[in-house]
Amino acid sequence: MLSTTTIATIKSTVPVLQVHGTEITKRFYNMLFTNHPELLNIFNHANQKQGSQQEALANAVYAAAKHIDQLEAILPVVKQVAHKHRSLGVKPEHYPIVGEYLLKAIKDVLKDDATDEILQAWEEAYGAIANVFIEVENQMYEEAAKQPGGWDEDRHFVVDRKEQESEVITSFYLKPVDGNPIASFKSGQYISVKLEIPDDEFTHIRQYSLSDAPDQSYYRISVKKEKNPSKPDGIVSNYLHDHVNIGETLSITAPAGDFYLEDESTPIVLLSGGVGITPMLSMLKSSVLQDRKTTFIHASLNGSVHAFQEEVSSLNHPSLEYFVCYESPTQEDHNNRIFHKEGFVDREWLSDTLSLEPNTHYYFCGPLLFMKAVKEALLELGVEENQMHYEFFGPAVALQPS
Ligand code: HEM
Repeated sequence: MLSTTTIATIKSTVPVLQVHGTEITKRFYNMLFTNHPELLNIFNHANQKQGSQQEALANAVYAAAKHIDQLEAILPVVKQVAHKHRSLGVKPEHYPIVGEYLLKAIKDVLKDDATDEILQAWEEAYGAIANVFIEVENQMYEEAAKQPGGWDEDRHFVVDRKEQESEVITSFYLKPVDGNPIASFKSGQYISVKLEIPDDEFTHIRQYSLSDAPDQSYYRISVKKEKNPSKPDGIVSNYLHDHVNIGETLSITAPAGDFYLEDESTPIVLLSGGVGITPMLSMLKSSVLQDRKTTFIHASLNGSVHAFQEEVSSLNHPSLEYFVCYESPTQEDHNNRIFHKEGFVDREWLSDTLSLEPNTHYYFCGPLLFMKAVKEALLELGVEENQMHYEFFGPAVALQPS
């Protein structure tokens, strides 16, 4: 239990730390990785370079600190992060290390303003916040191990099939090397792949959504080859595409994530942009099996990078509607009967396309701009926030406790 003085000190210093946020987190990560280079086996190096993850962790600590006297209010957000931590293999013993360097960074940046009283208060507050995460994560490790076919650490899977789905997306069908059953999952969840690349001193971990229906003898991930002139090539995605073939083994952690198709019977609309199709396809397959009224909308650049066209079209179900939007369709795309809209998904088109039944739930996933446009359009069409479920790939931009 934190004292009233400690709580008051924390609340009054959160704004100060937020002002120096970037500087503190830069210093923090610098010291963390210098003193514990082994943690570079867990953190995503690309996210570190872009600074996005740095802000996510720092913002989360400050957001939690604002609620230091009622930490149960941040539990829903803690759970979301804890899924990711569990999937990555973050353990209780890592928390004091992060705490130590966060405190040192605060001290280094605030200098004389970081009085002993302030530092003591932050040490206590960090401890309290860390305990909330540790408790939730311990529970998740236990649940992952105890479910049928489940496991709590790493498990080896062999690539049983590898199939190209578009010019940029390839699917990997993964079966457990031990031949035992594998855990079911909720459509929308992801697994972490831990990759050892020859001549690279670090392990690289990435999360990939499971793109097929649950309860198969395999997990399927569908990976986009990240090659974009404006960014460094994706280390893991390129390696998977170019070097991981049938018969190779990969180490993976059990399914995780709190973005999934809720088990209800309401109609659903599934909207995806680009490789955001992967969790949506799994949801689509589950919803068809459940005989739910489903509208599937997919947006991509054009037909050549549009994955799973046939797989979705072949789900010929009376309660399924399927619409496609291409930003820059080719001549060939114009002759394709599955293509409906040129440009971007917008309010007008959604309003013409959707029947907007009041109890419908909307799930969407894709690049940030796509997500923003979809959310804005749905709000304008009168869809309530609690009918929307979404996830974009990459680190969370900010942690907003509910
Ligand atoms: C991701 C918060 C402790 C390792 C994240 C994210 C948040 C966060 C908000 C982003 C989640 C997302 O992208 O969906 C926190 C808080 C912590 C804490 C508040 C302490 C109370 C730790 C510890 C470790 C760790 C102790 C392990 C050393 C990671 C990693 C990621 C992550 C590896 C993903 C990073 C990436 O992919 O770039 N954390 N975290 N975190 N966290 Fe933590």
